[in-house]
Amino acid sequence: LKPGFHVAIIMDGNGRWASQRGLPRPFGHRAGAETLKRIASLAPDLGVTTLTLFAFSTYNWLRAPAEVTGLMNLLGDYLARETQAFVTGGWRLSLIGRRDRLPARHLADLERIEAATAGGKRLHVRIAVDYSAREAIEQAAHSHASDLARVIAQSRPGDSDEVLEVDLMIRTGGDKRLSDFLLWECAFAELYFVDTLWPDFDETCLTAAIDDFRGRERANAVAPSPRLMVS
Ligand code: IPE
Ligand code: IPE
Ligand code: MG
Repeated sequence: LKPGFHVAIIMDGNGRWASQRGLPRPFGHRAGAETLKRIASLAPDLGVTTLTLFAFSTYNWLRAPAEVTGLMNLLGDYLARETQAFVTGGWRLSLIGRRDRLPARHLADLERIEAATAGGKRLHVRIAVDYSAREAIEQAAHSHASDLARVIAQSRPGDSDEVLEVDLMIRTGGDKRLSDFLLWECAFAELYFVDTLWPDFDETCLTAAIDDFRGRERANAVAPSPRLMVS
């Protein structure tokens, strides 16, 4: 695999996982957070160097307030608690999506984690929170042409300003749609949909997805540089 193999995951099915067990939805999200950590620890050994995970979409603000609060608390607290493990594992954690609507306390936590893990070389884990691909593209369209790539990629000044082309997009939970995730970056991505609910997604599932990807014909999938397309 070329260096920079980029996998994106729409981590769907937490609510159904909990319902199937007669548990409230937050239990599913907590189990999903464990899966996130497990999958990210396995990814580098499978050749993945960038992992972009959809944790909270712009449309998810419309969910019940208690669920929204629970998800925000989980993100902030869980990731903060695991910071040392991320540093040890060589992860670099960054946030994509809008930051201005996140609760201040959690944003501060998340930005502390970004700073603490900035030197991570083994795996770049990008967590999408309050993310909408359409909004990112729309915003880019309003910005100066030279900033387009950076705005679409939602990278921060100082980051690489290249759009991170997705190689493989995985969605768990059985639905076959992109739900406004990385639309631009997935122009040439292989798409992989699996019924497994996110909390049940394990090493076998990840290996199966990557084996499937490796087996597909990639000859027609050479992506032109987005920079060329917008210049
Ligand atoms: C995905 O699980 C996690 C988030 C969207 C935050 P869901 O909460 O969408 O679970 P289902 O799709 O209702 O089962
Ligand atoms: C997509 O899942 C967003 C995340 C996984 C965070 P949703 O459950 O919110 O998406 P829809 O509503 O099925 O499109
Ligand atoms: Mg869902």
